[in-house]
Amino acid sequence: MRLPLWYLLEALSWSSRLGTTDPAPPPDRTLTPSQSTSLSFNLRHVHAQSANSSHILFADVRPPSLSSRRLDEPELTFTLDTETILTHRPSSPAAFYAARSGSRLAQTPIDLWVPDSIPAPNTSSRHTLHTLAKMTSNAYTSPSESDWYPLPSPFNSTNGTAPPSIPFGWEPDADGFRGHIFVSEDNATVVISIKGTSAGWIFGGGGPTVSKDKLNDNMLFSCCCARVGPTWSTVCGCYGGSGKCDQRCLETSVAKESLFYSVGVDLYNNVTYLYPNANIWLVGHSLGGSLASLLGSTFGSPVVAFEAPGERLAAQRLHLPGPPNNNHITHVLHTADPLAMGTCTGVSSVCGIAGYAMESHCHMGNIRRYDTISNLNWAADIRTHGIRVIVEKLLADDWNTLTGHNETKEVPDFDNDDDCVDCYNWEFGDYK
Ligand SMILES: *[C@@H]1O[C@H](CO)[C@@H](O)[C@H](O)[C@H]1NC(C)=O
Ligand SMILES: *[C@@H]1O[C@H](CO)[C@@H](O)[C@H](O)[C@H]1NC(C)=O
Ligand SMILES: *[C@@H]1O[C@H](CO)[C@@H](O)[C@H](O)[C@H]1NC(C)=O
Ligand SMILES: *[C@@H]1O[C@H](CO)[C@@H](O)[C@H](O)[C@H]1NC(C)=O
Ligand SMILES: *[C@@H]1O[C@H](CO)[C@@H](O)[C@H](O)[C@H]1NC(C)=O
Ligand SMILES: *[C@@H]1O[C@H](CO)[C@@H](O)[C@H](O)[C@H]1NC(C)=O
Ligand SMILES: *[C@@H]1O[C@H](CO)[C@@H](O)[C@H](O)[C@H]1NC(C)=O
Repeated sequence: MRLPLWYLLEALSWSSRLGTTDPAPPPDRTLTPSQSTSLSFNLRHVHAQSANSSHILFADVRPPSLSSRRLDEPELTFTLDTETILTHRPSSPAAFYAARSGSRLAQTPIDLWVPDSIPAPNTSSRHTLHTLAKMTSNAYTSPSESDWYPLPSPFNSTNGTAPPSIPFGWEPDADGFRGHIFVSEDNATVVISIKGTSAGWIFGGGGPTVSKDKLNDNMLFSCCCARVGPTWSTVCGCYGGSGKCDQRCLETSVAKESLFYSVGVDLYNNVTYLYPNANIWLVGHSLGGSLASLLGSTFGSPVVAFEAPGERLAAQRLHLPGPPNNNHITHVLHTADPLAMGTCTGVSSVCGIAGYAMESHCHMGNIRRYDTISNLNWAADIRTHGIRVIVEKLLADDWNTLTGHNETKEVPDFDNDDDCVDCYNWEFGDYK
Protein backbone atom coordinates (compact mmCIF):
# COMPACT_ATOMS: atom_id res chain seq x y z
CA MET A 1 0.00 0.00 0.00
CA ARG A 2 2.65 2.42 1.02
CA LEU A 3 4.78 2.30 -2.07
CA PRO A 4 2.18 3.38 -4.59
CA LEU A 5 1.00 6.15 -2.31
CA TRP A 6 4.45 7.64 -2.05
CA TYR A 7 4.81 7.16 -5.74
CA LEU A 8 1.73 9.31 -6.25
CA LEU A 9 2.75 11.90 -3.72
CA GLU A 10 6.17 12.21 -5.22
CA ALA A 11 4.69 12.72 -8.63
CA LEU A 12 2.53 15.56 -7.47
CA SER A 13 4.88 17.13 -5.04
CA TRP A 14 5.67 20.72 -5.87
CA SER A 15 9.20 20.19 -4.70
CA SER A 16 9.66 16.87 -6.40
CA ARG A 17 12.76 16.61 -8.44
CA LEU A 18 12.98 14.76 -11.68
CA GLY A 19 15.49 12.13 -10.95
CA THR A 20 18.33 12.96 -8.66
CA THR A 21 20.01 15.75 -10.54
CA ASP A 22 19.09 19.25 -9.57
CA PRO A 23 16.77 20.57 -12.25
CA ALA A 24 18.32 23.93 -12.76
CA PRO A 25 16.18 25.37 -15.52
CA PRO A 26 17.92 24.85 -18.83
CA PRO A 27 19.01 27.93 -20.73
CA ASP A 28 16.08 29.05 -22.79
CA ARG A 29 17.10 29.49 -26.37
CA THR A 30 13.83 30.77 -27.62
CA LEU A 31 13.12 33.82 -25.54
CA THR A 32 14.10 36.28 -28.15
CA PRO A 33 12.27 39.55 -28.57
CA SER A 34 9.09 38.95 -30.49
CA GLN A 35 7.59 40.98 -33.28
CA SER A 36 4.07 40.47 -32.12
CA THR A 37 2.31 42.21 -29.33
CA SER A 38 3.75 41.28 -26.01
CA LEU A 39 3.06 42.01 -22.41
CA SER A 40 5.35 41.90 -19.46
CA PHE A 41 4.22 41.00 -15.99
CA ASN A 42 5.40 41.48 -12.49
CA LEU A 43 4.43 39.41 -9.54
CA ARG A 44 2.22 41.75 -7.59
CA HIS A 45 0.12 39.72 -5.17
CA VAL A 46 0.15 36.43 -3.47
CA HIS A 47 -3.18 34.92 -2.83
CA ALA A 48 -3.91 32.38 -0.16
CA GLN A 49 -7.32 31.20 0.79
CA SER A 50 -7.92 28.76 3.54
CA ALA A 51 -10.57 26.32 2.45
CA ASN A 52 -12.44 26.80 5.70
CA SER A 53 -12.49 30.58 5.81
CA SER A 54 -14.69 32.93 3.93
CA HIS A 55 -12.19 35.68 3.28
CA ILE A 56 -9.43 36.11 0.79
CA LEU A 57 -6.02 37.32 1.79
CA PHE A 58 -4.00 39.44 -0.52
CA ALA A 59 -0.44 39.93 0.54
CA ASP A 60 1.68 42.52 -1.12
CA VAL A 61 4.84 41.04 -2.37
CA ARG A 62 7.93 41.79 -0.31
CA PRO A 63 11.62 41.73 -1.16
CA PRO A 64 13.24 38.35 -0.71
CA SER A 65 15.54 37.73 2.16
CA LEU A 66 18.93 38.76 0.94
CA SER A 67 20.56 35.58 2.12
CA SER A 68 18.42 33.32 0.00
CA ARG A 69 18.76 35.08 -3.29
CA ARG A 70 21.58 36.45 -5.33
CA LEU A 71 21.25 40.14 -6.01
CA ASP A 72 21.84 39.61 -9.70
CA GLU A 73 18.79 37.40 -10.04
CA PRO A 74 15.87 39.73 -10.44
CA GLU A 75 14.24 37.72 -13.22
CA LEU A 76 10.70 38.21 -12.11
CA THR A 77 9.10 39.63 -15.20
CA PHE A 78 7.39 37.49 -17.78
CA THR A 79 6.69 38.34 -21.39
CA LEU A 80 4.01 36.75 -23.50
CA ASP A 81 2.80 37.03 -27.07
CA THR A 82 -0.82 37.94 -27.41
CA GLU A 83 -3.46 37.59 -30.06
CA THR A 84 -6.90 39.10 -30.18
CA ILE A 85 -9.77 36.66 -29.73
CA LEU A 86 -13.53 36.91 -29.64
CA THR A 87 -14.93 35.77 -26.34
CA HIS A 88 -18.30 35.95 -24.62
CA ARG A 89 -18.91 37.45 -21.22
CA PRO A 90 -22.05 37.22 -19.10
CA SER A 91 -24.10 40.39 -19.55
CA SER A 92 -24.36 40.65 -15.77
CA PRO A 93 -23.73 38.49 -12.72
CA ALA A 94 -27.48 38.49 -12.04
CA ALA A 95 -28.24 37.18 -15.53
CA PHE A 96 -25.56 34.52 -15.11
CA TYR A 97 -26.93 33.25 -11.82
CA ALA A 98 -30.48 33.34 -13.13
CA ALA A 99 -29.38 31.23 -16.08
CA ARG A 100 -27.44 28.92 -13.79
CA SER A 101 -30.38 28.23 -11.52
CA GLY A 102 -32.80 28.00 -14.41
CA SER A 103 -30.76 26.01 -16.87
CA ARG A 104 -32.23 22.76 -15.68
CA LEU A 105 -35.64 23.90 -16.84
CA ALA A 106 -35.05 26.14 -19.82
CA GLN A 107 -32.61 26.99 -22.54
CA THR A 108 -29.91 29.49 -21.71
CA PRO A 109 -31.21 32.89 -22.80
CA ILE A 110 -29.38 34.11 -25.86
CA ASP A 111 -28.84 37.58 -24.48
CA LEU A 112 -26.94 36.20 -21.51
CA TRP A 113 -23.68 36.45 -23.43
CA VAL A 114 -22.10 39.62 -24.74
CA PRO A 115 -19.34 39.23 -27.34
CA ASP A 116 -16.06 40.95 -26.62
CA SER A 117 -12.72 41.17 -28.44
CA ILE A 118 -9.83 40.86 -26.04
CA PRO A 119 -6.12 40.11 -26.04
CA ALA A 120 -5.39 36.51 -25.14
CA PRO A 121 -2.19 34.49 -24.94
CA ASN A 122 -1.04 33.20 -28.32
CA THR A 123 -1.21 29.48 -27.67
CA SER A 124 0.32 28.71 -31.08
CA SER A 125 3.54 30.08 -29.70
CA ARG A 126 5.53 27.48 -27.83
CA HIS A 127 7.49 30.14 -26.02
CA THR A 128 4.25 31.69 -24.75
CA LEU A 129 3.05 28.32 -23.45
CA HIS A 130 6.47 27.76 -21.91
CA THR A 131 6.35 31.08 -20.11
CA LEU A 132 2.82 30.44 -18.87
CA ALA A 133 3.90 26.99 -17.67
CA LYS A 134 6.73 28.61 -15.72
CA MET A 135 4.32 31.11 -14.21
CA THR A 136 2.08 28.20 -13.29
CA SER A 137 4.96 26.24 -11.80
CA ASN A 138 6.03 29.28 -9.83
CA ALA A 139 2.62 29.25 -8.17
CA TYR A 140 3.94 26.30 -6.18
CA THR A 141 6.96 28.08 -4.80
CA SER A 142 8.50 31.43 -4.00
CA PRO A 143 11.07 33.64 -5.73
CA SER A 144 13.68 32.90 -3.11
CA GLU A 145 13.47 29.15 -3.68
CA SER A 146 15.68 27.29 -6.10
CA ASP A 147 12.72 25.85 -7.96
CA TRP A 148 11.41 29.30 -8.90
CA TYR A 149 11.95 29.66 -12.64
CA PRO A 150 14.01 32.70 -13.48
CA LEU A 151 13.65 34.13 -16.94
CA PRO A 152 16.57 35.45 -18.95
CA SER A 153 17.17 38.85 -20.41
CA PRO A 154 15.31 40.84 -21.71
CA PHE A 155 12.48 39.49 -19.64
CA ASN A 156 14.02 40.14 -16.31
CA SER A 157 13.42 43.86 -16.03
CA THR A 158 12.23 44.68 -12.57
CA ASN A 159 11.91 48.40 -12.89
CA GLY A 160 9.05 49.86 -10.96
CA THR A 161 8.78 47.02 -8.47
CA ALA A 162 11.10 45.65 -5.88
CA PRO A 163 12.25 42.10 -6.60
CA PRO A 164 9.30 40.19 -5.24
CA SER A 165 9.08 37.13 -3.13
CA ILE A 166 6.33 35.32 -1.40
CA PRO A 167 5.80 35.77 2.30
CA PHE A 168 5.42 32.23 3.48
CA GLY A 169 1.97 32.35 4.93
CA TRP A 170 1.53 29.05 3.14
CA GLU A 171 1.51 26.68 6.06
CA PRO A 172 0.39 23.21 5.05
CA ASP A 173 -2.56 23.48 7.39
CA ALA A 174 -3.81 26.59 5.60
CA ASP A 175 -3.93 24.74 2.33
CA GLY A 176 -6.74 25.47 0.00
CA PHE A 177 -7.22 27.54 -3.08
CA ARG A 178 -3.91 29.27 -3.69
CA GLY A 179 -2.05 31.13 -6.31
CA HIS A 180 -0.11 34.09 -7.52
CA ILE A 181 -1.37 37.15 -9.27
CA PHE A 182 0.82 38.66 -11.97
CA VAL A 183 0.01 42.14 -13.20
CA SER A 184 1.35 43.78 -16.34
CA GLU A 185 3.30 46.97 -15.93
CA ASP A 186 0.42 49.09 -17.19
CA ASN A 187 -2.19 47.22 -15.10
CA ALA A 188 -3.98 46.25 -18.31
CA THR A 189 -3.59 42.48 -17.99
CA VAL A 190 -3.69 40.30 -14.92
CA VAL A 191 -2.79 36.62 -14.85
CA ILE A 192 -4.25 34.57 -12.02
CA SER A 193 -2.08 31.49 -11.57
CA ILE A 194 -3.91 28.82 -9.58
CA LYS A 195 -2.01 26.21 -7.70
CA GLY A 196 -5.04 24.14 -6.94
CA THR A 197 -5.31 21.65 -4.15
CA SER A 198 -2.43 19.31 -4.67
CA ALA A 199 -0.74 19.97 -1.34
CA GLY A 200 -3.63 18.11 0.21
CA TRP A 201 -2.47 15.02 -1.64
CA ILE A 202 1.15 15.50 -0.83
CA PHE A 203 1.47 16.09 2.86
CA GLY A 204 -1.15 13.45 3.54
CA GLY A 205 -2.42 13.78 7.07
CA GLY A 206 -1.21 17.36 7.39
CA GLY A 207 -3.75 19.97 8.24
CA PRO A 208 -7.42 20.40 8.79
CA THR A 209 -8.43 20.94 5.17
CA VAL A 210 -7.07 17.77 3.63
CA SER A 211 -10.32 15.88 3.92
CA LYS A 212 -12.18 18.85 2.50
CA ASP A 213 -9.78 19.07 -0.44
CA LYS A 214 -10.29 15.40 -1.12
CA LEU A 215 -14.03 15.83 -0.86
CA ASN A 216 -13.83 18.56 -3.50
CA ASP A 217 -11.69 16.46 -5.80
CA ASN A 218 -13.89 13.42 -5.47
CA MET A 219 -16.98 15.54 -5.93
CA LEU A 220 -15.75 17.30 -9.06
CA PHE A 221 -13.99 14.47 -10.85
CA SER A 222 -15.80 11.27 -9.93
CA CYS A 223 -18.78 9.77 -11.72
CA CYS A 224 -21.00 9.16 -8.73
CA CYS A 225 -19.85 10.50 -5.37
CA ALA A 226 -16.59 8.56 -5.56
CA ARG A 227 -18.31 5.21 -5.33
CA VAL A 228 -15.38 3.32 -6.75
CA GLY A 229 -16.09 0.08 -5.00
CA PRO A 230 -18.46 -1.29 -2.41
CA THR A 231 -16.03 -0.53 0.40
CA TRP A 232 -15.55 3.13 -0.47
CA SER A 233 -17.15 5.72 1.73
CA THR A 234 -18.91 7.95 -0.74
CA VAL A 235 -18.87 11.75 -0.68
CA CYS A 236 -22.58 12.07 -1.38
CA GLY A 237 -25.57 9.78 -1.21
CA CYS A 238 -26.59 9.63 -4.83
CA TYR A 239 -25.73 6.03 -5.61
CA GLY A 240 -28.90 4.30 -6.71
CA GLY A 241 -27.62 0.72 -6.88
CA SER A 242 -26.09 -1.33 -9.70
CA GLY A 243 -24.46 1.33 -11.85
CA LYS A 244 -27.21 3.91 -11.35
CA CYS A 245 -26.73 7.40 -10.01
CA ASP A 246 -29.32 10.05 -9.23
CA GLN A 247 -28.68 13.09 -11.39
CA ARG A 248 -30.57 15.69 -9.36
CA CYS A 249 -28.95 14.51 -6.17
CA LEU A 250 -25.55 14.85 -7.83
CA GLU A 251 -26.20 18.37 -9.02
CA THR A 252 -27.38 19.48 -5.61
CA SER A 253 -24.39 17.90 -3.92
CA VAL A 254 -21.81 19.27 -6.34
CA ALA A 255 -23.22 22.79 -6.13
CA LYS A 256 -23.20 22.60 -2.35
CA GLU A 257 -19.81 21.08 -1.83
CA SER A 258 -17.67 22.64 -4.53
CA LEU A 259 -16.36 25.39 -2.41
CA PHE A 260 -13.21 25.87 -4.42
CA TYR A 261 -15.23 26.99 -7.40
CA SER A 262 -17.06 29.52 -5.22
CA VAL A 263 -13.80 30.73 -3.73
CA GLY A 264 -12.45 31.16 -7.25
CA VAL A 265 -15.46 33.25 -8.23
CA ASP A 266 -14.84 35.46 -5.20
CA LEU A 267 -11.19 35.78 -6.07
CA TYR A 268 -12.01 36.72 -9.62
CA ASN A 269 -14.45 39.36 -8.44
CA ASN A 270 -11.82 40.71 -6.10
CA VAL A 271 -9.31 41.00 -8.90
CA THR A 272 -11.79 42.82 -11.11
CA TYR A 273 -12.41 45.18 -8.21
CA LEU A 274 -8.70 45.87 -7.80
CA TYR A 275 -8.06 46.13 -11.55
CA PRO A 276 -11.40 47.21 -13.02
CA ASN A 277 -10.09 47.75 -16.54
CA ALA A 278 -7.79 44.77 -16.76
CA ASN A 279 -8.04 41.73 -18.97
CA ILE A 280 -7.86 38.76 -16.70
CA TRP A 281 -6.25 35.51 -17.77
CA LEU A 282 -6.34 32.29 -15.81
CA VAL A 283 -3.67 29.62 -15.73
CA GLY A 284 -3.29 26.55 -13.57
CA HIS A 285 -1.89 23.07 -13.28
CA SER A 286 -3.78 19.88 -12.46
CA LEU A 287 -6.76 20.67 -10.25
CA GLY A 288 -5.79 24.32 -10.50
CA GLY A 289 -6.10 23.98 -14.27
CA SER A 290 -9.59 22.54 -13.95
CA LEU A 291 -10.59 25.39 -11.68
CA ALA A 292 -9.06 27.92 -14.07
CA SER A 293 -11.17 26.41 -16.84
CA LEU A 294 -14.39 26.47 -14.82
CA LEU A 295 -13.76 30.12 -13.93
CA GLY A 296 -12.82 30.98 -17.50
CA SER A 297 -16.03 29.42 -18.73
CA THR A 298 -17.93 31.48 -16.17
CA PHE A 299 -16.35 34.84 -16.96
CA GLY A 300 -15.27 34.46 -20.58
CA SER A 301 -11.62 34.95 -19.66
CA PRO A 302 -8.75 33.33 -21.53
CA VAL A 303 -7.49 30.15 -19.86
CA VAL A 304 -4.41 27.99 -20.31
CA ALA A 305 -4.69 24.84 -18.21
CA PHE A 306 -1.85 22.34 -17.88
CA GLU A 307 -2.53 18.62 -17.30
CA ALA A 308 -5.99 19.26 -15.88
CA PRO A 309 -8.30 16.34 -15.12
CA GLY A 310 -11.48 16.43 -17.21
CA GLU A 311 -13.61 19.30 -15.95
CA ARG A 312 -16.52 19.22 -18.41
CA LEU A 313 -18.60 16.98 -16.17
CA ALA A 314 -18.06 19.34 -13.24
CA ALA A 315 -19.14 22.32 -15.38
CA GLN A 316 -22.36 20.50 -16.26
CA ARG A 317 -23.06 19.53 -12.70
CA LEU A 318 -22.33 23.06 -11.50
CA HIS A 319 -24.91 24.24 -14.04
CA LEU A 320 -22.54 26.67 -15.67
CA PRO A 321 -24.65 28.00 -18.52
CA GLY A 322 -21.73 27.77 -20.93
CA PRO A 323 -20.90 30.49 -23.45
CA PRO A 324 -21.57 29.95 -27.20
CA ASN A 325 -18.12 28.41 -27.39
CA ASN A 326 -15.16 27.77 -25.14
CA ASN A 327 -12.48 28.66 -27.67
CA HIS A 328 -10.89 30.95 -25.12
CA ILE A 329 -9.96 27.89 -23.06
CA THR A 330 -6.81 25.97 -24.05
CA HIS A 331 -5.74 22.76 -22.42
CA VAL A 332 -2.12 21.64 -22.68
CA LEU A 333 -1.80 17.98 -21.82
CA HIS A 334 -0.03 14.84 -22.92
CA THR A 335 -1.12 11.27 -23.40
CA ALA A 336 1.22 9.65 -20.86
CA ASP A 337 -0.37 11.53 -17.97
CA PRO A 338 -3.02 9.27 -16.41
CA LEU A 339 -4.63 12.13 -14.46
CA ALA A 340 -5.19 14.38 -17.47
CA MET A 341 -6.26 11.38 -19.55
CA GLY A 342 -8.64 10.16 -16.88
CA THR A 343 -7.10 6.68 -16.78
CA CYS A 344 -5.99 6.71 -13.14
CA THR A 345 -9.16 4.91 -12.15
CA GLY A 346 -10.31 1.85 -10.29
CA VAL A 347 -9.84 0.52 -6.80
CA SER A 348 -6.33 -0.73 -7.44
CA SER A 349 -5.02 2.28 -9.36
CA VAL A 350 -2.51 4.62 -7.78
CA CYS A 351 -5.28 7.20 -7.41
CA GLY A 352 -7.73 4.66 -6.02
CA ILE A 353 -5.27 3.47 -3.42
CA ALA A 354 -4.75 7.05 -2.28
CA GLY A 355 -8.52 7.44 -2.03
CA TYR A 356 -9.08 9.61 -5.07
CA ALA A 357 -11.66 8.87 -7.73
CA MET A 358 -10.34 10.84 -10.69
CA GLU A 359 -12.74 9.35 -13.21
CA SER A 360 -13.69 12.17 -15.57
CA HIS A 361 -11.63 12.65 -18.70
CA CYS A 362 -13.49 15.06 -21.02
CA HIS A 363 -12.23 18.64 -21.27
CA MET A 364 -13.84 21.87 -22.42
CA GLY A 365 -12.42 24.15 -25.09
CA ASN A 366 -9.40 23.52 -27.27
CA ILE A 367 -6.71 21.00 -26.50
CA ARG A 368 -3.02 21.02 -27.40
CA ARG A 369 -2.72 17.28 -26.93
CA TYR A 370 0.88 16.11 -26.97
CA ASP A 371 0.95 12.46 -27.94
CA THR A 372 4.02 11.64 -25.91
CA ILE A 373 3.21 7.92 -25.93
CA SER A 374 3.23 7.59 -29.73
CA ASN A 375 5.77 10.25 -30.59
CA LEU A 376 8.23 10.21 -27.71
CA ASN A 377 7.74 6.64 -26.46
CA TRP A 378 6.85 7.82 -22.99
CA ALA A 379 5.16 5.21 -20.81
CA ALA A 380 1.91 6.11 -19.10
CA ASP A 381 3.11 7.10 -15.66
CA ILE A 382 1.71 9.44 -13.05
CA ARG A 383 5.17 10.91 -12.57
CA THR A 384 4.78 12.62 -15.93
CA HIS A 385 1.92 14.67 -14.49
CA GLY A 386 4.10 17.18 -12.66
CA ILE A 387 4.33 20.75 -13.96
CA ARG A 388 8.11 20.52 -13.98
CA VAL A 389 7.92 17.77 -16.57
CA ILE A 390 5.89 20.15 -18.70
CA VAL A 391 8.31 23.02 -18.26
CA GLU A 392 11.53 21.07 -18.57
CA LYS A 393 10.64 18.40 -21.09
CA LEU A 394 7.40 18.86 -22.96
CA LEU A 395 7.70 22.58 -23.67
CA ALA A 396 11.47 22.85 -23.57
CA ASP A 397 11.66 22.65 -27.35
CA ASP A 398 9.40 22.89 -30.35
CA TRP A 399 7.20 19.85 -30.86
CA ASN A 400 8.68 19.11 -34.28
CA THR A 401 12.17 19.18 -32.78
CA LEU A 402 11.21 16.82 -29.98
CA THR A 403 9.56 14.45 -32.41
CA GLY A 404 12.23 14.80 -35.09
CA HIS A 405 9.77 15.88 -37.76
CA ASN A 406 10.68 18.22 -40.58
CA GLU A 407 7.59 20.29 -40.71
CA THR A 408 7.73 23.28 -38.38
CA LYS A 409 5.24 22.75 -35.62
CA GLU A 410 5.96 24.64 -32.43
CA VAL A 411 3.01 23.03 -30.66
CA PRO A 412 0.46 20.38 -31.65
CA ASP A 413 -2.60 21.60 -33.55
CA PHE A 414 -5.86 22.19 -31.76
CA ASP A 415 -7.82 19.12 -30.85
CA ASN A 416 -10.98 18.83 -28.77
CA ASP A 417 -12.94 16.40 -26.66
CA ASP A 418 -16.26 17.00 -28.45
CA ASP A 419 -16.80 13.26 -29.00
CA CYS A 420 -15.66 12.34 -25.53
CA VAL A 421 -18.11 10.65 -23.16
CA ASP A 422 -17.62 10.59 -19.41
CA CYS A 423 -18.79 7.80 -17.15
CA TYR A 424 -20.34 5.78 -19.97
CA ASN A 425 -20.80 2.79 -17.68
CA TRP A 426 -23.09 4.76 -15.36
CA GLU A 427 -26.78 5.49 -15.80
CA PHE A 428 -27.87 8.89 -14.60
CA GLY A 429 -31.53 9.64 -13.88
CA ASP A 430 -34.24 9.71 -11.25
CA TYR A 431 -33.40 6.95 -8.81
CA LYS A 432 -34.28 8.51 -5.50
C1 LIG B 1 1.31 33.27 -32.66
O1 LIG B 1 2.45 32.45 -32.61
C2 LIG B 1 2.72 31.79 -33.83
C3 LIG B 1 3.88 30.86 -33.59
O2 LIG B 1 4.97 31.54 -33.05
C4 LIG B 1 3.03 32.82 -34.91
O3 LIG B 1 3.27 32.18 -36.12
C5 LIG B 1 1.84 33.75 -35.05
O4 LIG B 1 2.15 34.79 -35.95
C6 LIG B 1 1.50 34.35 -33.68
N1 LIG B 1 0.27 35.14 -33.79
C7 LIG B 1 0.23 36.42 -33.48
C8 LIG B 1 -1.08 37.09 -33.64
O5 LIG B 1 1.21 37.02 -33.08
C1 LIG C 1 18.87 40.41 -17.01
O1 LIG C 1 19.71 39.28 -17.18
C2 LIG C 1 20.88 39.55 -17.92
C3 LIG C 1 21.61 38.24 -18.05
O2 LIG C 1 20.72 37.25 -18.46
C4 LIG C 1 21.71 40.58 -17.17
O3 LIG C 1 22.87 40.90 -17.93
C5 LIG C 1 20.90 41.86 -16.97
O4 LIG C 1 21.61 42.76 -16.18
C6 LIG C 1 19.60 41.51 -16.25
N1 LIG C 1 18.77 42.69 -16.17
C7 LIG C 1 18.27 43.14 -15.04
C8 LIG C 1 17.40 44.33 -15.11
O5 LIG C 1 18.52 42.60 -13.99
C1 LIG D 1 10.33 50.17 -17.26
O1 LIG D 1 11.10 49.98 -18.42
C2 LIG D 1 10.43 50.20 -19.61
C3 LIG D 1 11.38 49.90 -20.76
O2 LIG D 1 12.03 48.70 -20.53
C4 LIG D 1 9.92 51.63 -19.68
O3 LIG D 1 9.17 51.80 -20.84
C5 LIG D 1 9.05 51.91 -18.47
O4 LIG D 1 8.71 53.29 -18.45
C6 LIG D 1 9.81 51.60 -17.20
N1 LIG D 1 8.91 51.77 -16.07
C7 LIG D 1 9.27 52.41 -14.96
C8 LIG D 1 8.23 52.51 -13.90
O5 LIG D 1 10.39 52.85 -14.82
C1 LIG E 1 -9.67 26.93 9.87
O1 LIG E 1 -8.35 26.60 9.65
C2 LIG E 1 -7.46 27.15 10.60
C3 LIG E 1 -6.07 26.77 10.19
O2 LIG E 1 -5.84 27.19 8.90
C4 LIG E 1 -7.81 26.62 11.98
O3 LIG E 1 -6.94 27.23 12.92
C5 LIG E 1 -9.23 26.97 12.30
O4 LIG E 1 -9.59 26.39 13.54
C6 LIG E 1 -10.15 26.45 11.22
N1 LIG E 1 -11.50 26.90 11.47
C7 LIG E 1 -12.55 26.10 11.37
C8 LIG E 1 -13.87 26.72 11.64
O5 LIG E 1 -12.43 24.93 11.07
C1 LIG F 1 -1.31 50.05 -11.24
O1 LIG F 1 -2.08 49.81 -10.07
C2 LIG F 1 -1.38 50.13 -8.88
C3 LIG F 1 -2.29 49.76 -7.73
O2 LIG F 1 -2.58 48.41 -7.74
C4 LIG F 1 -1.04 51.60 -8.87
O3 LIG F 1 -0.29 51.90 -7.71
C5 LIG F 1 -0.23 51.95 -10.10
O4 LIG F 1 0.00 53.32 -10.16
C6 LIG F 1 -0.94 51.51 -11.33
N1 LIG F 1 -0.08 51.73 -12.48
C7 LIG F 1 -0.52 52.26 -13.62
C8 LIG F 1 0.48 52.39 -14.72
O5 LIG F 1 -1.69 52.59 -13.75
C1 LIG G 1 -12.13 40.60 -1.51
O1 LIG G 1 -11.08 40.56 -0.56
C2 LIG G 1 -11.36 41.17 0.67
C3 LIG G 1 -10.13 41.10 1.53
O2 LIG G 1 -9.06 41.72 0.90
C4 LIG G 1 -12.55 40.50 1.30
O3 LIG G 1 -12.88 41.15 2.50
C5 LIG G 1 -13.73 40.53 0.35
O4 LIG G 1 -14.78 39.77 0.88
C6 LIG G 1 -13.36 39.95 -0.98
N1 LIG G 1 -14.44 40.14 -1.91
C7 LIG G 1 -14.88 39.19 -2.70
C8 LIG G 1 -15.97 39.54 -3.61
O5 LIG G 1 -14.39 38.10 -2.66
C1 LIG H 1 12.83 16.36 -44.52
O1 LIG H 1 13.40 17.39 -45.30
C2 LIG H 1 14.27 16.90 -46.33
C3 LIG H 1 14.92 18.07 -47.04
O2 LIG H 1 14.32 19.28 -46.71
C4 LIG H 1 13.48 16.02 -47.30
O3 LIG H 1 14.32 15.52 -48.31
C5 LIG H 1 12.84 14.89 -46.53
O4 LIG H 1 12.01 14.13 -47.38
C6 LIG H 1 12.00 15.41 -45.38
N1 LIG H 1 11.51 14.32 -44.59
C7 LIG H 1 10.24 14.21 -44.23
C8 LIG H 1 9.91 13.03 -43.40
O5 LIG H 1 9.40 15.02 -44.53
